[in-house]
Amino acid sequence: MKRAIIAGVAALSAASATVLDLKISIRNTYSVVHVNVGTPAVDHALLYDTGSSTLWLVDSTCTTTNCPNFSGFNRTTYNVSASRTGQEYSSVPGSIDYSGGYVSGVLASDIAKVSYTSFKQTFAAITYSTWSTLPADGFLGLASSSIAFPNTTSFFENLMNLHLADQPRFGLYPGSGVSTVANPSPANNGILTFGGSREAEYACGKVKFVDLEVPFQVYKTPLQALTIINKSGNQTKTYNQTWSGDVVVDTGSGSIYVPQDYIEDIYSATPWTFANISHGYRPLCTDFTDDWSVALTLGFPGAEQTYTVTGSMLAVPGYVDDEHCFPPFNYWSSQNIIVGANWLRNFYSVFDYGSFDPEHYNVRIGFAPLKPEYLPKV
Ligand SMILES: *[C@@H]1O[C@H](CO)[C@@H](O)[C@H](O)[C@H]1NC(C)=O
Ligand SMILES: *[C@@H]1O[C@H](CO)[C@@H](O)[C@H](O)[C@H]1NC(C)=O
Ligand SMILES: *[C@@H]1O[C@H](CO)[C@@H](O)[C@H](O)[C@H]1NC(C)=O
Ligand SMILES: *[C@@H]1O[C@H](CO)[C@@H](O)[C@H](O)[C@H]1NC(C)=O
Ligand SMILES: *[C@@H]1O[C@H](CO)[C@@H](O)[C@H](O)[C@H]1NC(C)=O
Ligand SMILES: *[C@@H]1O[C@H](CO)[C@@H](O)[C@H](O)[C@H]1NC(C)=O
Ligand SMILES: *[C@@H]1O[C@H](CO)[C@@H](O)[C@H](O)[C@H]1NC(C)=O
Ligand SMILES: *[C@@H]1O[C@H](CO)[C@@H](O)[C@H](O)[C@H]1NC(C)=O
Repeated sequence: MKRAIIAGVAALSAASATVLDLKISIRNTYSVVHVNVGTPAVDHALLYDTGSSTLWLVDSTCTTTNCPNFSGFNRTTYNVSASRTGQEYSSVPGSIDYSGGYVSGVLASDIAKVSYTSFKQTFAAITYSTWSTLPADGFLGLASSSIAFPNTTSFFENLMNLHLADQPRFGLYPGSGVSTVANPSPANNGILTFGGSREAEYACGKVKFVDLEVPFQVYKTPLQALTIINKSGNQTKTYNQTWSGDVVVDTGSGSIYVPQDYIEDIYSATPWTFANISHGYRPLCTDFTDDWSVALTLGFPGAEQTYTVTGSMLAVPGYVDDEHCFPPFNYWSSQNIIVGANWLRNFYSVFDYGSFDPEHYNVRIGFAPLKPEYLPKV
C-alpha cells in the first residue's frame, strides 16, 4: 500500500489509497473472487465480469422458484435484515438482460470489505434470476457505471471515487488452473488487482495498450485484423478477416465469438471445418498445436497492436471428455468479436482508465504475454 498523490483531492481525503489483490478461484469452469458485504461481514463469491457493470447479490428473500440453483454450490444470499449497515430501496427496481441470463431486483447499499479496506457500495439485491447454474452468489460487474443497474456505481469506479485506488487501473492474472471434467474446480493462483497492475510479476515483456471506443460502456476497441496462419507440413494457409467490427473484452464469456457469416471461413485455416463441428464433431485436444496461430490486431489505425496465440494456447479440455477440446470459435449475431476467458488466460491484462475523474477518463486496455510459468496448466 502506498499513499497516492492526487492533485486537488489528496488534501480532502484522510483515507490512504490502496492496491487491492483479490484471489481468483475456479468453481466448475467459472472464475470467482470474494467480497465481504454487510455488518457483520458476510463473504460472497462473485463472478467478475468485464462485460457488464453491476455488482449484484441474490437476495435472501429469493425463492428456489425465482432463483433456482442447480450449480452444485451453495449460495450465500444477501440478507438486509441481518446487516446493521444495509439498506434496500424497493422504490428503485431494475433488471439486467445478459446474453446468458436475466436478473431483476432492487437497489441496495451496504458496507463492502476486501482485504482490510471497507467502503460503502451500491449494488442490486436480486429477487429473480435465471442464472441457475451459476456457482456464485452474484456478479462483480467491471464495465462502466453508465450502463449499470439504476443508482449503482460499478465496484471499481466506486473505489476510484473514494480514493481507494493508487492508480486508475485494474489488472488481471486469471491463474494457471484449468477446469476439466476430471477436476472441474482445480486449485488456482489467479489475482485480480484493483488500483494497480502486476505485470512485473506475471508478464513477459511490455503491456501493449490500445484505446477504446467512446463513449466508454464496455471494453470495446476496433478490430483491424484477424489472421489465422497454419503452417502444417510445408503448407501455409492464411485466413484474413474481411469485415469491419469491434472487439469486446469480456471475462464473463468463455470462447471467442465471431460473426456468423464468417465462421466457416475462419475455420478454413484451422484443422477443422465448422460444418463438422456444428454436426457434432468434437476437436481432439492433440490437434491444438503450435502449427497454427491466431493473431488479433486491435485498436485505432496508426496505434494498433497485434496479439498472437497459438493453437495449443487455445486448447480447453472438457468438451464432453478431456481428450476433446472446446471449438476455439463460436458465432453470434453481431459484426463484433468477443474475446473471453479462453483467450485472456494467456495474457496479463490491464484495464486503465487514465484518470480518476469520469470527465477525463481515457480508457485503454493492454495485454502482455504471460511468463511461461504462469501459463494455464492442466
Ligand atoms: C444450491 O444448490 C446446492 C447444491 O445442489 C444446494 O445444497 C443448496 O441448497 C442450493 N442453495 C440455494 C440457496 O438454493
Ligand atoms: C450446502 O448447504 C447444506 C446445508 O447447509 C449442506 O448440508 C451441504 O453440504 C452444502 N453443500 C455444499 C455443496 O456445500
Ligand atoms: C435474515 O436475517 C434475519 C435477522 O437476522 C432473520 O430473522 C431471517 O431469518 C433471515 N432471513 C433469511 C432468509 O435467512
Ligand atoms: C436514484 O437516482 C435518481 C436520479 O438520479 C434520484 O432522483 C433518486 O433520489 C435516487 N434514489 C436513491 C434511493 O438513491
Ligand atoms: C518440406 O519441404 C522440404 C524441402 O522442400 C522437404 O525436405 C520436407 O520433407 C517437407 N516436409 C514435409 C512435412 O512435407
Ligand atoms: C493476409 O495477410 C497476410 C499477412 O499480413 C498477407 O501477407 C497476405 O497477403 C494477406 N492475404 C490476403 C488474401 O489478403
Ligand atoms: C492445419 O494444421 C493442422 C495441424 O495442426 C493440419 O492437420 C491441417 O491439415 C492444417 N490445415 C491446413 C488447411 O493447412
Ligand atoms: C466433415 O464434413 C465432411 C463434409 O461435410 C465429411 O465428408 C466428413 O466426413 C466430416 N468429417 C468428420 C470427422 O465429421
